Amino acid sequence: MKSMVKRGVLGLSGLVALAAVSLGTFVEVEASEYDASVEQVYDIPVPDVARSIDPKVVARGKHIVDAVAGCSSRACHGADLAGGERIDLGPVGSIHAPNLSVLAVAYADGELARLVRHGIKKDGRTVRFMPVQDFNWLSDADLIAIVSYLRTVPPVDRENDSTNVKTLGKVLDRRGQVRLDVAGHMDHTRIDQAPPPSPTPEYGRFLARACTGCHGEHLSGGPIPGAPSSVPVPLNLTPDDTGLAGWTFEDFDRLLSTGARRSGKRLDPFMPTESFGKLEDDEKRALWAYLRTLPPTKLGQR
Ligand code: HEC
Repeated sequence: MKSMVKRGVLGLSGLVALAAVSLGTFVEVEASEYDASVEQVYDIPVPDVARSIDPKVVARGKHIVDAVAGCSSRACHGADLAGGERIDLGPVGSIHAPNLSVLAVAYADGELARLVRHGIKKDGRTVRFMPVQDFNWLSDADLIAIVSYLRTVPPVDRENDSTNVKTLGKVLDRRGQVRLDVAGHMDHTRIDQAPPPSPTPEYGRFLARACTGCHGEHLSGGPIPGAPSSVPVPLNLTPDDTGLAGWTFEDFDRLLSTGARRSGKRLDPFMPTESFGKLEDDEKRALWAYLRTLPPTKLGQR
C-alpha cells in the first residue's frame, strides 16, 4: 500500500517535471517567434505628407502631441520630447522612449507619418511598446499637424536607455496580453479612422483608446499583466460600483485636470493627468459620454 502511494507521488512529480519541460519549450518557441516578428521589414509605402508652417496647423499638432496622444507625458517622450522617465516593468522589460527632439530630424515627413499610423520605423521594422494603436485613428490632416509641430521642437542633447524586452514580455506579447511588437499586431490594410471631432460617444470611443493600454481593453482596470507590484493598479472606468458609478462629468473633469479623485485623494502620477488634463472640453465630454455607454463591469473583469 505504502509503496503504491509512493509510486503515485513519484508519478505526479514526474508529470509536473514533464509539464515544466514542455512549458519551457513553449516559452522558447514563443520568444523566438517574437524575435522573428520584430526583425521583419514591412513593405508599407511612405505616405505623401508634407509639413505645414501654418500656425494653426502647428498648434493642432502640439495639442495632439501633448494631450490627445499623450506623446509628451512623463513616462513617454517627456515634456521636452527628449525621452521621459524609464518605466521598469520587472520581468516584462523596461521602456525608455527615445529622444524625439533629435530623432525626428532623421525622419522625412512621410516617414514620421508612417510611424504614427503604422508603427513602422525608418528602417521598416516595428516600434516596440509605443502605443500606436491608441492614436493611429487620427485623420490625415492630424498626421500633417503632428509632423508640422515636431519640426518646431528644439533639439535637446540628452542620451537615454533603449527599450529592453525580456522573455516574459515576449511571451505575454505572443499571447496578446501586452502589445510590444506593435506593427505585428496591426492589420495594416484596415486602419479605422475616427469621425470628425465632436463631444459624442462615437468620437470618445477613439479618444478612449489612449486609456486601454493601462485600464485594459474593457476599461475595467486591474493589474497590468506581468507588471511588478510597484506599478499602481489602474482603476475601473466603467459605470459599476467598483468603478465610476455615481460620478458626474464634473468629477471626471476635475480628476483629469487636477489629478484629484472624487474622494479628494491625489492620484498616483503614473496616471498621466499632465497630458489628459490638457484635453479640450469637447474632448473630455466625448470621453465621458463614451465611458457612460460601457457595460458596468467589476474591477479587473472583462
Ligand atoms: C499610463 C497608464 C494610464 C493611462 C494611459 C491612463 N490611466 Fe487612468 N489611471 C491609471 C492608474 C495607475 C490609476 C490609479 C492611480 C491611483 O490609484 O492613484 C488611474 C486612475 C484613473 C481614474 C480614477 C478612478 C477612481 O476611481 O478614482 C480615472 C477616472 C482614470 N484613470 C481615467 C483615465 C482615462 C479617461 C484615461 C484615458 C484618457 C486614462 N485614465 C489613461 C493609469 C493610467
